[in-house]
Amino acid sequence: MAAEISRRTLVELIGRIGGAATVYSALNMAGLLVAPTAYAAPPALKPGSGNGKRVAILGAGIAGLTAVYCLGKAGYQCTILEARSRSGGRVWTIRAGDQITETDSTQHVEWQSDRDIYFNAGAARISSHHQGILGYCRELGVPLEVFVNENRTALVQFDSQFGGKPQTVRRLTADLRGAIAALAAKSTPNDEVVQTVLRIFGDLGRDLTYAGSPRAGYGAGDDVPGAANRRGRLQPPLPLDEIAGPEAIRMALALCFAEAWQQSPTMLQPVGGMDAIIRAFDRAVGSVIRHNEEVMRIERIGEGARVISFDRTSGRRSALDADFVICTIPLSVLEHIPADFDPAVTYAISVGAKLYFPAVKVAFEAPRRWWEIDQQLYGGISWTGRDITQIWYPSHGFNGEKGVLVGAYIWSHDPARRFTAMTPAERHAAAISDGERLHPGYGRLVGPAASVAWAKIPYSLGAWIEWETISGARQAEYPILLAGDGPFYFAGEHMSYVTAWQEDAVQSAHYTVSQIAERVEKNRP
Ligand code: FAD
Ligand code: ALA
Repeated sequence: MAAEISRRTLVELIGRIGGAATVYSALNMAGLLVAPTAYAAPPALKPGSGNGKRVAILGAGIAGLTAVYCLGKAGYQCTILEARSRSGGRVWTIRAGDQITETDSTQHVEWQSDRDIYFNAGAARISSHHQGILGYCRELGVPLEVFVNENRTALVQFDSQFGGKPQTVRRLTADLRGAIAALAAKSTPNDEVVQTVLRIFGDLGRDLTYAGSPRAGYGAGDDVPGAANRRGRLQPPLPLDEIAGPEAIRMALALCFAEAWQQSPTMLQPVGGMDAIIRAFDRAVGSVIRHNEEVMRIERIGEGARVISFDRTSGRRSALDADFVICTIPLSVLEHIPADFDPAVTYAISVGAKLYFPAVKVAFEAPRRWWEIDQQLYGGISWTGRDITQIWYPSHGFNGEKGVLVGAYIWSHDPARRFTAMTPAERHAAAISDGERLHPGYGRLVGPAASVAWAKIPYSLGAWIEWETISGARQAEYPILLAGDGPFYFAGEHMSYVTAWQEDAVQSAHYTVSQIAERVEKNRP
């Protein structure tokens, strides 16, 4: 009930400032759109149960890799056609020397080669309840470490509040709680137990008022408690009406972000970059992946299918015949591929194709980890009302020499569209200008940049699907794709009620593999 109230209130508040699309993005990011689902364990297929059956899998992202891993173990004869020269799709870790090709630009990543210098341009964090993807990390030996999603030393900055001066999450959180607890205590004068809880919750005084707390941290110099005579001095509380000022809603989102089901501690990341998961899958499934093989046409041949592809290195065209096709190509890309799908399926794909969110990330190499040395920021996220939305401090390589900062992670529609329309150089300059608000002198503190505007990345053409942004699409078109179409099955991030996580791709692949296995079992002579 409490979760329902907070969800409803949030929807209403965010809707008031940003409209329906903003509501959807913010809630989706926080994981407030769906009720937690039970973990869908890998389907238990009998060894040899797929013998003699051929499966063409289109795309070697997490969904395609999961499907081939499960089906291969049961003896299905699988081939993955993957247009890129690498597996992983939207799991993409960028390092020194990489090239970022968008539909209208190319960037060469001019960073130093170093174990800790990498940028997860797509998937970057894993919730601890994502047991599908975490299960594969366990099974395939991918070491994990903590991803710091919330840091009380991180900053929140809005131009219209506190004179534009960033405040720490620590101080804002403590003072907000203190003020709210004091208000609540006033309204429960006769309930001693509730008042005790509120006193602890808000760090109130004996008189049930809030006059500041060590939880808010201290200022600087002699105000910070220390040895000898340094008793320390509390900071005055930030006034509630200023915390809840013009940007109250975005402030609330920033301070509550890590409370969300999908974003709360403990969050995890693979050691050395998210693509460690992809390398492990590549090793496990071996030579069944044909890279640089772009699917050009999908045909229906009797009860089965033929997939026509084009080798991007040799220019050779080839045909792959299969009993089943698992298509994991994002709908934004699939709508451009001629296919003998049922007209209702073709229409559903065209609807889904319009619903991809154009997220943008910008990263900067920094020659010195100034955020740790000068500002005690070890991992975590700072927030701003500016277009960059967030700055992420790396959760790995602490106390090292250099590092990579995520200088923008944009997941609201209008800023994302603005950044997508820019050239990479313009984006990087804009990200520096916005970042200056959080860290004065930022432009001198960061080095070469790299950025990814997902709507312009070939073979992705979007970051993740948002089915609910068009009223009725989830109810009308989604089930059509979920049902499949003769030999054709659709799997991937877009075939889930969660979306925007690797876990969706894993669970969707499990679902599709089960559908195929049940059908094979049923039709066994
Ligand atoms: P994809 O990874 O898109 O795989 C589809 C594959 O199909 C690709 O490899 C593509 O090259 C291939 N393909 C496309 N066209 C063709 C063609 N014509 N012929 C052959 N192959 C083709 N998830 C998390 O778990 N944590 C996060 O923190 C997180 N953050 C994210 C942030 C961003 C900015 C983005 C973009 C995504 C994020 N995600 C995150 C989501 C996660 O990356 C995806 O849900 C998941 O990787 C999708 O896997 P998939 O296999 O469904 O699709
Ligand atoms: N699930 C993605 C993230 O957490 C969108 O950033």
